[in-house]
Amino acid sequence: MSDDRTMDPISPCLLSRRAFVKASGAAGLAAGIPLLGLPRARGDAASATPPGDAAPAAATSPAAAAGVNTLRGLAAKKGLVLGSAFSNTAFRKDPTYGEVLAREFNCLVAENSMKLSGIQRVRGEFDFTRPDAMMAFAAAHDMQVRAVPLVWHDALPQWAEGKTFPREEALDILREHIFAVMRHFRGRICAWDVLNEGLADKGPGLRKEGPWFHSIGPDYVEKVYHLAHEADPEALLFYNDFDMDGMSEKADRCYLWIKELLARGVPIHGIGLQYHVKVERHPSPAEVTRNIRRFNDLGLHVHITELDVWLPAQATAQHLQQQAAIYRGVIETALAAQKCPAVMLWGFTDRYSWVPGTSGGTYDHALIFDRDYHPKPAYAAIAEALRS
Ligand code: XIL
Repeated sequence: MSDDRTMDPISPCLLSRRAFVKASGAAGLAAGIPLLGLPRARGDAASATPPGDAAPAAATSPAAAAGVNTLRGLAAKKGLVLGSAFSNTAFRKDPTYGEVLAREFNCLVAENSMKLSGIQRVRGEFDFTRPDAMMAFAAAHDMQVRAVPLVWHDALPQWAEGKTFPREEALDILREHIFAVMRHFRGRICAWDVLNEGLADKGPGLRKEGPWFHSIGPDYVEKVYHLAHEADPEALLFYNDFDMDGMSEKADRCYLWIKELLARGVPIHGIGLQYHVKVERHPSPAEVTRNIRRFNDLGLHVHITELDVWLPAQATAQHLQQQAAIYRGVIETALAAQKCPAVMLWGFTDRYSWVPGTSGGTYDHALIFDRDYHPKPAYAAIAEALRS
């Protein structure tokens, strides 16, 4: 028996980082590592999936087995992690929200409650109440959990907004945050987005907004990955960003940058493609396939992390059909890829979506259930993609 931990009682299905690196070749650059079975929110050694088995934990869950025709049941058969963002507010006030979520999805990600502003509203005081409520729900329903993001220029509490700190102080803040959060959730998170949106929107180089770049300098990026790895050496560490789902200029920049970071030994194990797209402007499945493939060829996992498809506020039946085709294409692309085992939607019902707010009312209807929880054509399209 090797000393590589491929199973443990807390996260039975997690391939360890050491095993990952070993399977990926010396620099972690070669392809050919097995798909991950990801840990669920609650460890359960009895239902452990053998390491290297492509089926994720959700395949054996009672919830999935009960609803074979739900998206969750269909996703389990395909070994796909199919998740949604979780809104604490919606969950608290609307019982239907939790019912549909547990029925249709096998993974959750906190929409806001795990961000710096959610956990450390007061500097040095860590409040896990809201993410813990989500974790309890996930555990009760045998769902996995992704975590976003440890470091971001946005969603800052007042004490960090617009501030520049002395370099060492900023590094201490990030160390304290990363350690506290990763240790709190240790063994219960299938993938961590360590840095979110670190690249400039228009190149070259890094995004300059936010306190971390200003206070620390460009090496803050590698520092935070090393800190995250130190906090939990078994965790899978992702870089997450938008507008790089297909073969865009930003995706090219990201590819070269990540390749360079990997060559320098920065512990990055996966890329999150946010996949917020508009019905009139979205990459083709062929492009997304090429993009995923090149990251996979670096030995990296790819997850689709925040999928939604924006329609004009006055959407027509034709828009809904186009939207369905886009959702179908994403699922088909993920299923066909070598290592794209997770697709996360940024919510599931138009009743609670960030899109109308962030677009000033211009866009809406981005998700797969309408405001009354009726499935839209996109729901059927995902089901079809999972059945075929
Ligand atoms: C969004 C949330 O959905 C909103 O509720 C919040 O007001 C702002 O943030 N990219 C990300 C997510 O990485 O964290 C953002 O979430 C959407 C864009």
